[in-house]
Amino acid sequence: PVTVYPNQQIASVQVAKRIADLIKARQTSGGKAVLGLATGVTPIKVYQELVRLHKEEGLSFKNVITFNLDEYYPMQPTAAQSYVTFMNENLFDHIDIEKSNIHIPDGTLSPDAVAAFCLNYEKQIEELGGLDMQILGIGRTGHIGFNEPGSAPNSGTRLVTLDDLTRSDAARDFGGKQNVPTKAITMGVGTIFKAREIVLMAWSQKKAPIIKKAVEGEISGDVPATYLQLSQHVEFVLDEGAASELT
Ligand code: F6R
Repeated sequence: PVTVYPNQQIASVQVAKRIADLIKARQTSGGKAVLGLATGVTPIKVYQELVRLHKEEGLSFKNVITFNLDEYYPMQPTAAQSYVTFMNENLFDHIDIEKSNIHIPDGTLSPDAVAAFCLNYEKQIEELGGLDMQILGIGRTGHIGFNEPGSAPNSGTRLVTLDDLTRSDAARDFGGKQNVPTKAITMGVGTIFKAREIVLMAWSQKKAPIIKKAVEGEISGDVPATYLQLSQHVEFVLDEGAASELT
């Protein structure tokens, strides 16, 4: 289903509430909530609202385990552009999550260690019973995570090559496209698909053409987000700009 909100602020508060409700339900039953998280500008207001819920309404993240979708490769965690830095600044530094419950693909691995790391990432998710909820943005190539065009529907966590357009879109963060890594480690389409709930968010008219393709286009590896049409558990959460080309 597609839900369109008047603006990204209202939409983000609703997504944060969904996450908070999941966390609280698990707390009540004495269990853990396993969340798949995204970086980029799209989820920032969701994280702001989660921080507010923690600080002002006592929402605790002690029972939360997180797995981030992706990280550039190679990438030092302390670098300004790393997704570790992003997550710390936008969420983790402001809540009471246990550091040992946070998982982000490791951009510092030697090339020969990547495959084993990726298999273990999948195994860790599985051993926890799978992802309860996966939060997604969408790239203008149609990527989810860093699953660029050509990604297989059953792909797992792996090292990928970033699309040229994705590197152009990241150029500003890196002070020029030439500084954007050419590779990343990402959860696969298959990893994402196994989550019990998937929430894909998109804001602004800039995302309208790719949202039209993702929601209404033919299902194809040319636009990996179209695979989500096959899921019974996905919600596309849009603002009016991102929804503006839907029929
Ligand atoms: C980020 C990720 C990417 C982004 C996408 C949109 O962890 O996996 O798929 O969600 O590139 O980025 P923004 O939100 O910056 O437009």
